[in-house]
Amino acid sequence: MSTLASLIPQKIRRAARNVKSRVDVHREYAADRRRYLANMMPDDRAIDTRLRGRNLEAQITKDYHRIEKGLALRNPRQPFGYEVKTRLEMLLPFAEPGQEYAEHARSALSALDEWNSEGTIAEDISPRRIPDVASRNAAPEDFFRSRHSVRDFTPAPITKDLLVRAVSLALCSPSVCNRQSWRVHFFHGSEATEVLAFQNGSAGFRETVPTIAVVTVDTRAFAGAKERNQAWIEGGIFSMSLVWALHALGLDSCMLNMSVPTEKADALRRRIDASDAEVVIMMVAIGQAREGHRRARSPRRDVDDVVMRF
Ligand SMILES: Cc1cc2nc3c(=O)[nH]c(=O)nc-3n(C[C@H](O)[C@H](O)[C@H](O)COP(=O)(O)O)c2cc1C
Repeated sequence: MSTLASLIPQKIRRAARNVKSRVDVHREYAADRRRYLANMMPDDRAIDTRLRGRNLEAQITKDYHRIEKGLALRNPRQPFGYEVKTRLEMLLPFAEPGQEYAEHARSALSALDEWNSEGTIAEDISPRRIPDVASRNAAPEDFFRSRHSVRDFTPAPITKDLLVRAVSLALCSPSVCNRQSWRVHFFHGSEATEVLAFQNGSAGFRETVPTIAVVTVDTRAFAGAKERNQAWIEGGIFSMSLVWALHALGLDSCMLNMSVPTEKADALRRRIDASDAEVVIMMVAIGQAREGHRRARSPRRDVDDVVMRF
């Protein structure tokens, strides 16, 4: 503390810090609002032919998914999907040639027509599910209770094959209207250490981390005021899946917060070449735990403490 600051009574210093905390919240929300407004698309009924790029992809995906969902109900309405069909037909000509999402949308539209006119459900659009009971029951307690955050890694590098597998498993995560807005940026070795310096919670073990994943979400996938917080939800779900996938593949990990001011997140965005549309959700340290490493106890609450009502 400077000599000048030490002359100010502690009570006044605390009050000033309290005001500053509140001002910081306003500034950060303003930065979030700017980013969201710059990247989101309008609500369904305001959509017009100006939609492009990721916004176009997200809207088309949202709409074709409504057809898949509608046909997966026990008793689908007949007919249904007039608004969705009209919008897809308006937007599809603007999808760039060869885009997979546009193909999915076209096949969903044919399935919708088939259902509305003939009452038959296209098997490839809403296939019957055969539940795999055996793989679901494979010792869930063992699997869940053997994962712990690791903060002490061996230098063994992590192969790209394993990371690809982990991401492909994490892609099984649910997402709003299946929009899958996730992005993962991997860094290894000294680059991982450098990128980790953008967050505070890895101090003390940063240098031992062989690989990090920076998980971001593309806000161009979301629409209007109601979805303003969706990026954080989607990003949290995906990150958790990624960590479970790494665990299933025999790798260890530690989620690392990106609870940083926008200024710092912007600096990280620049360092990792992320677009302005991406919000940084968290980092995940990935590696093999060193033999004999310790973990934090991290005790858990009782179920009764968490469940408000059975
Ligand atoms: C969003 C999020 C951010 C986290 N950030 C950090 C971090 O910055 N540094 C750290 O050492 N651990 C971090 N953790 C790990 C938690 O401390 C840990 O998950 C918790 O204590 C439970 O322990 P377990 O993961 O071993 O079960 C984070 C966890 C989450 C979910």
